[in-house]
Order: sequence, then C-alpha cells, then structure tokens
Amino acid sequence: MNAYRLSTDFVDLGKHLLNVKTGDLYEVDERCRKIIEQLHKGIFLESSVRNVRFMLDEGILVYPEENNSRDKFHLQWHLLNKCNLRCKHCYDYKNKVSPLTFEQMIRVVDDYVLFIKKLGMDGEISLTGGEPMIFDRLTELVEYIKSRDVFIATYILTNGTIPFSNQHIKLFKDNDIGIQISLDGTKTTNDKIRGKGVYERCLSNLSLLIKNKIRASVHHVIMKKNIDDVPFFISAMDKVGVKRINFSSLVPIGPGAKEQSISPEESKRITEWMIEFQKDVKVSIVGQRPTWALVGSEGFCPVGYKTLTLYADGKFMPCRRLPIIIGDARTDTFFKVWFTSEFLKKNERKRKIC
Ligand SMILES: C[S@@+](CC[C@H](N)C(=O)[O-])C[C@H]1O[C@@H](n2cnc3c(N)ncnc32)[C@H](O)[C@@H]1O
Repeated sequence: MNAYRLSTDFVDLGKHLLNVKTGDLYEVDERCRKIIEQLHKGIFLESSVRNVRFMLDEGILVYPEENNSRDKFHLQWHLLNKCNLRCKHCYDYKNKVSPLTFEQMIRVVDDYVLFIKKLGMDGEISLTGGEPMIFDRLTELVEYIKSRDVFIATYILTNGTIPFSNQHIKLFKDNDIGIQISLDGTKTTNDKIRGKGVYERCLSNLSLLIKNKIRASVHHVIMKKNIDDVPFFISAMDKVGVKRINFSSLVPIGPGAKEQSISPEESKRITEWMIEFQKDVKVSIVGQRPTWALVGSEGFCPVGYKTLTLYADGKFMPCRRLPIIIGDARTDTFFKVWFTSEFLKKNERKRKIC
C-alpha cells in the first residue's frame, strides 16, 4: 500500500491543485502530475524525492490514517494597535483605543475554545496588531492558548523589527508557533514603505527562524509602489531559504487609502507571472486570493464561512479588511456574533458548508 494519499482538502483542477479550505492554489507541473498518477496507480512514493517532500510539507499529500475531515476556524486577533513602525500603506489608525485587559483576553480564548468545540472544528489563531511583539504579556497569552487542546496552529504576524532573543526562540519552538514577517519589497523598496533599516532587521530575524527550524513565512502587500520589485523580492526570499511568501493586494482603507492599488490588468499579469515563475524557485508563492478569478480559478474568501477578526478594542469584524463592527468581546460571545450578525447571515450559502 502507498504511504500517502492526496489530502481531501485539495481539488485537482488539472493545471492546478486548489486547497478548498485555505484557497491556496498550486500549479501542477509535469513532475507533480506524474506523482499524482503514481499515487492513483498505487506506486510507492519515496518521501526523499524533492517534489514528494514539497507536497508533504504543503499538506497536499497526507498519511492515509490522517484525519483531515475537520475544518479549521481562523481567528485574526489584533492584540493591540500600538506599533513601532508607520508603514505607508497601513490600514490602521494608531489612535488610542481601550484594549482588552489580560483577564478579558483569557476569557476570549476560553469562549473561542467553547465555540470551536461545539462547531466540531479545529482552531487557528493569528496574533497580530499593531505590533504583537511589543505586547508585554505575549508569552503568557501564547502559553495559555497552547495549553488548550483545540488549537492546531498559532501564528504571530510581526513586522520583524524587534530582534528575536533566545527566550523568543524558545517560546516559538516550545509552542510550535509559526512566524509571519511582513516585507513589502527588497531593501530600497521595502524601507521606503516600512522605514529605514527595517529590511536588514527582518532578514536577520528570518535567518534566525530558519536556523532554528521555526515555521517562517513572509507577507507582502502588492501596490503600485512595489509591483516592479516583485520578481527581485521573490528571488531574494528564495535565496534566504524562506519557505513561503503570501502575497496580498493593497486594501485602500484607513491611512493606507492614500496609496495606489495596481490595476486589474496588472493584477492579472502578476498572477499569471507568479504561476510561471513558481517553476524556477523553491519558495512557495501564494498569490493574491481574489485575483485567482483572473487566471481561471474560482477563488475563495473565508469571510462568513470560517473566520473572524477581533480588533484591539474588543470589537469583532468579519475580516480586518472589512471594518464592519459585528460584536464586542466584552459583552458578546463568539456564538452570539457568529449566529446573529446580520452581515454574516448574508453569507448563509457559504456558512452552511461548515
Ligand atoms: C497590520 S500588520 C500588523 C502586524 C505587524 N505589525 C506587521 O507589520 O506585520 C499585518 C499585515 O497587514 C498588512 N497591511 C497593513 N495595511 C494594509 C492594507 N492597507 N492593505 C493590505 N494589507 C495591509 C501589513 O503589511 C502586514 O503584513
């Protein structure tokens, strides 16, 4: 019997494999197609083969006994809105908000646990901000989250400028935390957007993560200012050994509304180009989700289906990129928000899936 099977999370679209849960789209080249055919024919696959290893790492291939039937619910949690940077495109006003107390945060975790247990889902949390690495009780919160058995993945989304100490590395390792560092271009382009010296600081933190075998990815926002730099950026990240770059589009809201988005034509061109370029690099390029429609895929948006955002002031939103208030963690439970929000109800068709 084969050691692996194709994950039920993936739909084979011929030229692409689509992860229907995360929306990630992978191009199927000749080597991958051959592997899938071998799999169907029951030919034994060696995990040491590079493409098999890649497909295992990405969850495309799984062990037969692996239970992949549970869906994942994702909470994006802005712990604070304070930040040590002032990125040009940021959607966040750095106005003073009244943050949740630590005790209220613990109640949020407990309530979230109850919610996803009842839904029969696994939980994912991304801790973000503002800048989460300057949250003074981050260690306690991470350890509390990881003490609950329903969380299968916890991430910290950071601007990567606070040098990771040995204690940070231990915290990430002990609690299996994935770290996403934001970079919006190679040195000159990035630093024009994110601030002087930021690129080098991020690279030094990235190397540390890679050296310590901590799951590290990079998030890059595409806008007019940096579109021409994208090819150089991918090559640079590939060289550093980053496993994955998540590209997304500028959302023109908040202070970031003054930045210029790329045109639909540019978006199509860059998405097609990324699919092509993927053949030449090891780093996994995850394209701009809504633009998949431009290259013949359906695309997937998890809003109203399996995600919520909790902002620093305790307000719930369908997504940080849809700043519509649908509840308050100080008074509302996840159940109340999820099942009574008028906005989410409009997504009923999708929500029935979970
Ligand atoms: C708001 S930041 C918070 C976490 C951390 N300070 C950081 O820089 O990663 C999270 C991510 O949102 C992205 N972001 C901020 N404003 C955006 C906008 N207007 N459109 C799209 N993404 C944006 C940032 O580039 C960053 O990757």
